[in-house]
Amino acid sequence: MNDIKIRIAPSILSADFGRLAEEVRSVEMAGADVIHIDVMDGHFVPNITIGPMVVKALHSVTKLPLDVHLMIEFPDRYIEAFAQAGASWITVHVEACTHIHRTINAIKALGVKAGAVLNPATSPSTLEYILADLDMVLIMSVNPGFGGQHFIPSSLGKIRHLRKLLASLNHYVPIEVDGGVNFYTIEDVASAGADIFVAGSAVFGSQDYAATIKKLKELGRKGINERDVSF
Ligand code: DX5
Ligand code: ZN
Repeated sequence: MNDIKIRIAPSILSADFGRLAEEVRSVEMAGADVIHIDVMDGHFVPNITIGPMVVKALHSVTKLPLDVHLMIEFPDRYIEAFAQAGASWITVHVEACTHIHRTINAIKALGVKAGAVLNPATSPSTLEYILADLDMVLIMSVNPGFGGQHFIPSSLGKIRHLRKLLASLNHYVPIEVDGGVNFYTIEDVASAGADIFVAGSAVFGSQDYAATIKKLKELGRKGINERDVSF
């Protein structure tokens, strides 16, 4: 169980957009494992953020994998543009995809790792017949759209349910959790079965990014060691 790699993925939604390149370099130096990029279209979620051009610009300033979280309608239309911009991972919402099997395989065909995202009210059982095709599952622990929201407690049972479902299939897929992950919640999130932790306000709202990421990893490790499933 101890060899599970903990990955911290700072969400740039809470970074200073006027100094975005500098912020990304700072979290890379501070020990981040992944850069989480929230793409919002003002339709699937109420907020509007960034598109492929910004992803491309960030790709040139960091060696870290870019984790592109698409909170948009019709994600199929934009997958190729994000792949060309340098996304290492693209995740799409189950709720936004009519033919998610096709969408996931289209992402993989572009040489990009593919993940499915579940909103707080969506059950992991919606993924039952596609789990084998996924490179990761992203569980939203807030309603998507904004940073700095409170963690929804029922997410813990959902992470546990998904981790047990995967274990029963003898299939390891990383579980990423997004929303309200901070010093107070990460240990429980890790103990429930997550291994990639998105943290926006917890990292970018702190004074010392390196100390924050280190503490998040320590608490996450503690949680992983408390797990009651085999992986
Ligand atoms: C919310 C986004 C998150 C957000 C998390 O829709 O998907 O990635 O930035 O922010 P915190 O960590 O502040 O909850
Ligand atoms: Zn996100």
